[in-house]
Amino acid sequence: MDLAWTQSDREPYSIENIRAGEGNAFQRHPLIENWEEQTLAIEKEFKEFFSVDMNEGWECPEGYPEGIDQKILAGHLDDDAKTGNRTRLLRFQPGVFTTLPFVHEHWEEVYLVSGDLIVGNDENGEGGEQFQPNTYACRPPGAYHGPFKSEGGCLLFEIHYYDKG
Ligand SMILES: [Fe+2]
Repeated sequence: MDLAWTQSDREPYSIENIRAGEGNAFQRHPLIENWEEQTLAIEKEFKEFFSVDMNEGWECPEGYPEGIDQKILAGHLDDDAKTGNRTRLLRFQPGVFTTLPFVHEHWEEVYLVSGDLIVGNDENGEGGEQFQPNTYACRPPGAYHGPFKSEGGCLLFEIHYYDKG
């Protein structure tokens, strides 16, 4: 993967450069030793603040029912090599639910940004515990979770990563 921010041929920035409008986001702080030669364990793009287009780039992940879509924000997972680090949004349409618990070999952190999320419903979408925004989970590899449902629809922010980077 081409990490643009390790390829800069500019001088490391200083506070003076920044104040003079000469710094840019593709430079790294000089206190990071050998910054121009480093290879990082995590291959993830450098993306400074940008407006996320919530109308484009959604797809239904493999194995999920219709009505649940993801939008990748950064990184990637290689499920065969069991490496990688990915950040995504996951969106449930109202009333959609899954029927079996999930389990996977990567870490997972989930933050419920908006809407409601029901955890532990049965195969008919009944029962379970309903959570509101600002709900968080952190799951190590092998942890069973779900099934999940959303009554009114919801938006989740998720970070996935394999233990070896
Ligand atoms: Fe999961």
